[in-house]
Amino acid sequence: MSPIFVTGTGTEVGKTVVAAAAAHTLAADGASVAVFKPCVTGLDELPADRLPDHELLRLAAGSSQGDDEIAPYRYGPPASPHLAAALAGEEVDPGRLREAARAAAARAEEIVCEGVGGLLVPLAGNYLVRDLAVELGYPLAIAATPGLGTINHTLLTVEVARDAGLEVAAVVLTPWPAEPSGVEHSNRETIAALGAVEVLTLPRLDLAAPDSWPELRFSRRR
Ligand SMILES: Nc1ncnc2c1ncn2[C@@H]1O[C@H](COP(=O)(O)OP(=O)(O)OP(=O)(O)O)[C@@H](O)[C@H]1O
Ligand SMILES: [Mg+2]
Repeated sequence: MSPIFVTGTGTEVGKTVVAAAAAHTLAADGASVAVFKPCVTGLDELPADRLPDHELLRLAAGSSQGDDEIAPYRYGPPASPHLAAALAGEEVDPGRLREAARAAAARAEEIVCEGVGGLLVPLAGNYLVRDLAVELGYPLAIAATPGLGTINHTLLTVEVARDAGLEVAAVVLTPWPAEPSGVEHSNRETIAALGAVEVLTLPRLDLAAPDSWPELRFSRRR
C-alpha cells in the first residue's frame, strides 16, 4: 500500500482535486482504491455544477464504496465539522472516524484520504484533523495555491505536520497555470528550499473527464 493523506493550506485550495488525481493514478495502475474523508460540510450550498467531495473522490478512484464508508459525517451548512455537527445536535466521534478509515483501507489495495480544511481544523472538541492524520500515520500531501500568499501558508502547514511527527510526501501547487508567472515559479522554488520538501504541480483539470487527467504520484521513503 502507498497510502496518502491529502491536506491543504486551508479550505478551497484544491485538496479534493489533488486527492482525486492521486486516486485516479493508482486506479489506472490497476489497484483497487478506497477513498476517505472524515467529514463533508457545505452540502446545502454546493454549486449545481459541482459534485460533493465524496462523490468526486469515488468517481476518480473507480470505487464502489457507499457514502457512509467514504465520509461518515456529512452536513449541510458550510461550517467547520465541529460546528456543523453541533448544529445537527451531534458530535463527531474520533473513534468512529478511525475505524471507518481503517475499514476502508482494509477493503482495498490503496487508500487516499482527504482532510477537512487545514491541519488545525477541529473535528470534535480539541480533536483536530492533525490528530486523525497522526493516528492513521499516512504520509501527507499538502495542496496549496500557486500565487501570492502561498509561501507562508504552506510553510506553516509543513511545520505543523513535522512537529506532529508526520511525513510530508510533497506539496502540490494547484491549479498550476499553463504559463506560470515569475512569482509562481519563485513560490515553487522558495517552498521547496525553505520547506526542504518536494513541490509538485497539477494543471487545471477537466473534473468531468478523469481519463484526461495527468498522473499524480508521490515518491516514498518507506
Ligand atoms: N487542478 C485543478 N483543476 C481544476 N480545478 C481546480 C484545480 N485545483 C483547484 N481547482 C478548483 O478550485 C476549487 C477548490 O478545489 P477543491 O474542491 O479541490 O478544494 P478543497 O481544498 O478540497 O476544498 P474543501 O476545503 O471544500 O474540501 C474547486 O472549484 C476546484 O475545481
Ligand atoms: Mg475538498
